[in-house]
Amino acid sequence: SGEMAIANVQFDMVTPGNEMKWDTTEPSNGSYNFGPGDQIVNWAQAHNARVRGHNLVWHSQLPNWVSSLPTNQVQGVMESHITTEATHYKGKVYAWDVINEPFNEDGSLRQDVFYKAMGSGYLADAIRTAHNADPNAKLYINDYNIEGENAKSNALYTLAQQMLSQGVPLGGIGLESHFIDGQVPSSMLANMQRFANLGLDVAVTELDDRIQLPASSSSLQQQANDYTTVVNDCLAVSRCVGVSQWGVDDGHSWIPGTFPG
Ligand code: XIL
Repeated sequence: SGEMAIANVQFDMVTPGNEMKWDTTEPSNGSYNFGPGDQIVNWAQAHNARVRGHNLVWHSQLPNWVSSLPTNQVQGVMESHITTEATHYKGKVYAWDVINEPFNEDGSLRQDVFYKAMGSGYLADAIRTAHNADPNAKLYINDYNIEGENAKSNALYTLAQQMLSQGVPLGGIGLESHFIDGQVPSSMLANMQRFANLGLDVAVTELDDRIQLPASSSSLQQQANDYTTVVNDCLAVSRCVGVSQWGVDDGHSWIPGTFPG
């Protein structure tokens, strides 16, 4: 397809959009399905592309059997899921989004099934569990609206500092970067740099820049400027290890389905 033709020549890194999420990989308790994720890994290996594993623990695309577990079973199930999936992909992914989108916009933690069962301790527990399964993978917390300096990124920064001081093997911060045309935060470079200064990698993990249709020549020019800004910000931070676009091309983007118009 056109999508693969573009991927084959223009990309050297790949993230599975859905194929490694919990609802695909463990649709029922203890029964695993790595076929879709393996297809992505096979493409990567044939093209010398790095793979970002995405993701191990997230409140969304989480099967009902997990969200309806009795509280005292959640930790064991979470650890088994992480261990089994990270072991399956050991040596094949250079990074894992171990924790996806843990924060609310005000910087508090989401009250999801993991938080309700374990409190904030689930975060360190998940990262330690992933590290035991794949000690060479860079282990990330990945979130959106943390690209600039704000309440949410401040809370993440405090959490990262705490984890590092406690010896938790956190390795990187993923800045999803689902932007609106003209709204790339001016503090993005400084924000990435402050995380890098903690000794963490940073990455732009899910870049897109949506335009309210119909697009005009000026909105398209603004979009080009936005992409330039983001790539230049990453290039300016030595520990910014890559820019991943969310979807190979506009024809394979989640944006029209999720943000109509
Ligand atoms: C999106 C996928 O692109 C869609 O196909 C799916 O229906 C919903 O999830 N943040 C993330 C990604 O971390 O996993 C999400 O991907 C987009 C927002």
